[in-house]
Amino acid sequence: MKYFFIAYAIIAALVIGLLPTRGSKSPNAPFRLFPDMDDQDKLKPQKPDGFFADGQGGRLPVHGTQALGFNPEGAAVIGGIPELEFGGGTGYYATGGIDGYYGNGMPEEIKLTDENVGAFLRRGEESFSINCAVCHGKSGDGQGITGQFGVPGIANLTDDTKKHAVYPDGRMFEVITNGKGQMGAYKHNIPLRDRWAIIAYVRSMQYARKAPYDAVKEAYDKGIAEQQAAATK
Ligand code: HEC
Repeated sequence: MKYFFIAYAIIAALVIGLLPTRGSKSPNAPFRLFPDMDDQDKLKPQKPDGFFADGQGGRLPVHGTQALGFNPEGAAVIGGIPELEFGGGTGYYATGGIDGYYGNGMPEEIKLTDENVGAFLRRGEESFSINCAVCHGKSGDGQGITGQFGVPGIANLTDDTKKHAVYPDGRMFEVITNGKGQMGAYKHNIPLRDRWAIIAYVRSMQYARKAPYDAVKEAYDKGIAEQQAAATK
C-alpha cells in the first residue's frame, strides 16, 4: 500500500507538473490531439491568394453554373411556382395532409396541364435519380448501390403487394419530408415542388412496371428493334 501511495504521488506530481498552466499565454500553436477543423487554410474576404493563377482570392461563379433559386425557366414550365420552397405552408401542397388525413393526387398549386406534365415528370426523374436512386435503384425496385454496402431493408417502391407502394401520395410526401427508419428526411434538401415531381415519377414507374402491353407496345417494339439492331452490328 505504501508503494502505491508513493507511485500515486509521483504520477500526480508529473501530471500536474507537465500540464501547462491554463490561462497562460504561449507563442506556440496549441497542441491538439483531435484537430477537427479548428486550424485550416482559409481565405479572408477581399484578400489576394496565390493559389489561383490570377492571384485573385474571391472567385466568380464557374462559367455555365446557375445560382441556387434562380431558375426562371423552371418556374415558367412547371406551374409558375417558386423553384425553391421548402415548407412553412399549412395546405396540402406543403404538408401532404388534408384535415388531418393524407391526401391523394397532385396539388392544384402545380397546375398540371397536358403541356407541362412531361417537364414535370422529367424533373421528377432527375430529382429521383439524384436523391433516391442510390438506395431505391434507378427503376425504384429497391436495388440501389447502397444495399450492397449494408443499408438494410430498402423499400421496393414498385412492388404493389407492399402497402407503401399503394398508399396515398400525401403519405409518400410525408416519408420524403420526414424520412422513415434508415431513410433520412429530405425537407431541407428537396424543395416542395420537386417532392411532388418525385412522387409523380414514382407513380409513373409503378404504372410502367405493370402497364398492359397494348399501352406500351409501340415503345417496347421500338426498344427491342433497337437492341436487336445494336446486337447484330
Ligand atoms: C439512404 C438510403 C435511402 C435513400 C437515399 C432514400 N430512401 Fe426511401 N427508404 C429507405 C429505406 C431503408 C426504407 C425503408 C424504411 C422503413 O420501412 O423503415 C425506405 C422507404 C421508403 C418508402 C416507403 C416508406 C414506408 O412508409 O414504408 C418510400 C415511399 C421511400 N422510401 C421513398 C424515397 C424517396 C422518394 C427518396 C428520394 C427522395 C428516398 N426514398 C430516398 C432508404 C432510402
